[in-house]
Amino acid sequence: MRVGVLTSGGDAPGMNAAIMAVVKAASYYNMEVIGIKYGYKGLLNGDIHKLTYSDVENIADKGGTILKTARCMEFMEGSGIEKAVEVLKNLDINSLIVIGGEGSFKGADRLHKLGVNVIGIPGTIDNDLRYTDYCIGFDTTLNTVLECIGKIKDTDYSHDKTTIVEVMGRYCGDLALYSALAGGGEIISTPEKKLDFDTICSKLSLRMNSGKNDNIIIITERMYDLQELQRYIEEKLKTSVRTTILGFIQRGGNPSGFDRVLASKMGIKAVDLLNNGYSGLAVGVKNNKIIDIEFEDVNNEIVDKQDSYDMLDILLH
Ligand code: F6P
Repeated sequence: MRVGVLTSGGDAPGMNAAIMAVVKAASYYNMEVIGIKYGYKGLLNGDIHKLTYSDVENIADKGGTILKTARCMEFMEGSGIEKAVEVLKNLDINSLIVIGGEGSFKGADRLHKLGVNVIGIPGTIDNDLRYTDYCIGFDTTLNTVLECIGKIKDTDYSHDKTTIVEVMGRYCGDLALYSALAGGGEIISTPEKKLDFDTICSKLSLRMNSGKNDNIIIITERMYDLQELQRYIEEKLKTSVRTTILGFIQRGGNPSGFDRVLASKMGIKAVDLLNNGYSGLAVGVKNNKIIDIEFEDVNNEIVDKQDSYDMLDILLH
C-alpha cells in the first residue's frame, strides 16, 4: 500500500510528531509513505517526496510542519477535487492521511466520496473540532498563552494595571476558557459566552472595588474592536488599560509532551484504520480513549463545555 500524508490549514505544534508516527506505523505494516508538501495545494501540483523511517527520527519535538502547509481555495471550492483524484491515481497513491482542521476534513471527505481511502487527524490550535476532546496543538498553545499571560501579569501587578489579552481560536473559545480555568485571567469573553462592554466593565469594577488592581481580561479573537473596548473601559471606569494581541507566537514552539503523545497515538490509529480497509473517518480522543468517527458526523458530535463554564463561574466569582 502507498500512503500519502499531508498537513493542511494553519500549522499546529505536534503535526511533526503525527507525521513521525504515521511514517513509523506505516513502516511497521510495510507500507510506503509519500509526503505531500503544502497541503492540498501541493497535491494539485504533485509536490511530493518519499518519507522513510530515518527521515522522521528527529522531528517529533519540532514545531510547525516539515511538510509545510497551505490554505487552498481552489481545492475547497470544488474545481480542484477531480484533479486531485487524478494526481493521486497517477502517483499510484491509493490512501491518504490528512492532518488539519475542519476545512481540511471537508476536503478529505470529498476525496473519500470520490473513492480515495482517507483518514483525518485533527491538528489545530483552536480545538474547534467538537467531536474530539483535544486536537493536536491545543495543549502546546495553551501553555504558550499561559506563559505569555504570566509575563504580562508581572508587569500588571507592579503597575496596578488591567490588560486585555486577545488569544486565537477563530470562532472557538477554548484557548480563552482553558487559560482562565488555569488561573490565567479574571474576566473572559468567548464566542460561546460573549460579554457586552458594560458587563465587562461591571465585572472589572467589582474586582477593582475589592482591591484587585491588576486584572487580565481574556478575549477570543474576531469578537470586538479591541481599541474601542479599551477606550470604553478607560472612559467608564476612569482607569488606564493595556491591550496585548498574542498573535502568531501562539502557533509556534516545541510541542508539549501531551501533544506529542496524542499525535503518536492518532498517527498510529490512522495507519491502523487504513491497513484494515477503513476510509472516511476522523480520528479523535474521548475520555482518554482514541476513537474514530465518520467525517460526516464531525460537526454533529458536540463536546459539552457547559460544565467548564460553570466551574469558571465559581473560580471567577
Ligand atoms: O486555525 C488556526 C489559526 O491560527 C486561527 O486561530 C487563526 O484565526 C487563523 O489560524 C489565522 O489564519 P492564517 O494563518 O491564515 O492567518
